[in-house]
Amino acid sequence: MNELIYLNLGGVKLSKKVTKEFTANLPKAELHLHIEGTLEPDLKLKLAKRNHIDIGQDTIEEVQKTYEYDDLASFLSVYYPAMEVLQKEEDFYELAFEYLKRAASNNVRHVEIFFDPQAHTSRGVAFGTVINGLYRAVVDARALNVDAALIMCFLRDFSKESARKTLLESLPYKDKFIGVGLDSDEHNNPPLKFARQFEDAAAQGLHLTAHCDIDQKESIDHIRQALEIMGVERLDHGTNIVEDPDLVQFVANKKIGLTSCPLSNGYVSPEMKGKEVLELLAQDVKVSIHSDDPAYFGGYIGDNYYAIAKNFDLTKDQVVQLAKNSFETSWISDEKKALYLKELDEYVTAN
Ligand code: ADE
Ligand code: ZN
Repeated sequence: MNELIYLNLGGVKLSKKVTKEFTANLPKAELHLHIEGTLEPDLKLKLAKRNHIDIGQDTIEEVQKTYEYDDLASFLSVYYPAMEVLQKEEDFYELAFEYLKRAASNNVRHVEIFFDPQAHTSRGVAFGTVINGLYRAVVDARALNVDAALIMCFLRDFSKESARKTLLESLPYKDKFIGVGLDSDEHNNPPLKFARQFEDAAAQGLHLTAHCDIDQKESIDHIRQALEIMGVERLDHGTNIVEDPDLVQFVANKKIGLTSCPLSNGYVSPEMKGKEVLELLAQDVKVSIHSDDPAYFGGYIGDNYYAIAKNFDLTKDQVVQLAKNSFETSWISDEKKALYLKELDEYVTAN
């Protein structure tokens, strides 16, 4: 266990232990975080009351009891209906600002937040209501010393026409988000279904990423489409890539980031995929650690770092490399990257 490893240098005993405190305070970038997945039970109950919506539960324990899932589809069937409590701009603001306070307490220096407009517009909430609320929180997060940005995701189980309409709807707000992603149920919904929308988004100067969830029936095909045809800059999850050495070489050479989420993986599959993360690290792939839907999967980003470090005996160097990768594959300027990487170096020296 890494808890037991010590370096004895000239009589000075340096702890190599990866502690919970070390992972919590480590400067990091969060690149795989669904804002709707940060809806904690207490906020869910508060918003339900405020918006006069009967969600069928009155206590935190009752809400938690509904959190029964063991794969992506069963998770999504709990996740989407819960969003009904989000109705007004203020609700989206509060959701995002509450999350950003937690991010600050995990020393998240930069965060790129996913949001799912179609999960809201499809139930009558205007696109502007969603993005204006979220964006106001992004601006206010500067006071928390958290640098935040938004990524708009298309729901892949909706039609490509719906994605096209969403992209058109988003363009008047183009200065409020930096990229597009692809999420929701991957089964029978390959990345290529959205090739045209991704091409149009890229033409608008937006960054591109896509979920290639773990252990899907067609994981490798989907990863190949996302990388070779759609030209994504990152893969969300994507750790099944270890099954194809050529694709691993491709992402390593092009420095494409893979955003892995250990606690979420542990819920929707029997494993956190720590072995795969270590294998990718060893092959110089820019893999990093994130939290996906922390209110549903039992922990925020520091908890995810600690879970993988503890369960797979990661060294401090490996943990630090994961944090470095998060900054290096983020969509910020080279100047900002250099600043955060320097902060990370100083943290490591001091700890
Ligand atoms: N939406 C929220 N979390 C997701 C996940 N892990 N995969 C796909 N879509 C999601
Ligand atoms: Zn995700």
